Amino acid sequence: MYPIVLGLHNLVRWVALVLAIVATVGAFSGWFGKRQWSERDRKIGSFFGMAMDIQLLLGLILYFVYSPITRQALSNFGAAMGVGDLRFFGLEHALYMILAVVSAHLGSALARRAAESKAKYQRAAIFFGLSLLLMLLGMPWMRPFIPFLG
Ligand code: HEM
Repeated sequence: MYPIVLGLHNLVRWVALVLAIVATVGAFSGWFGKRQWSERDRKIGSFFGMAMDIQLLLGLILYFVYSPITRQALSNFGAAMGVGDLRFFGLEHALYMILAVVSAHLGSALARRAAESKAKYQRAAIFFGLSLLLMLLGMPWMRPFIPFLG
């Protein structure tokens, strides 16, 4: 199961990343282009949130069940903080990505609560943009870009 869950987690990351870019660019262009908020904007934000939730679920399964790296990190968390890979997956990756998931949901929730299109786009742009940035910072770029390679 470990390679399957890791492979899925690897693949869904591209879906999440593309949706993060589409949602962020769309929100900024709506804001500066003074467009009316549309159903399409709402849907993109909600698909982005769903992709992030799937990643969160797969990530938690890896973290607590299958990953030998996080198992080792959790067995002695203090010592793991001094070891590059253990620190990255045991702390940094999980933390950045959980914050990215929260920010993605905040973007949609706060946009929904705003009354006017401009405020909806502003909120979506800020929180989707922050989510994208956190995802780029927390991504294990040293790992294969496609599952089962490398
Ligand atoms: C939400 C956005 C997330 C993205 C885009 C993402 C992306 C990735 C990628 C690309 C890998 C490398 C896959 C490979 O080597 O084939 C990975 C590994 C991993 N991720 Fe995530 N991740 C996310 C969230 C999380 C969360 C929230 C957790 C934990 C709470 C997590 C835990 C892990 C673990 C434990 C590994 C690999 C461990 C191993 O190699 O054994 N991820 N992640």
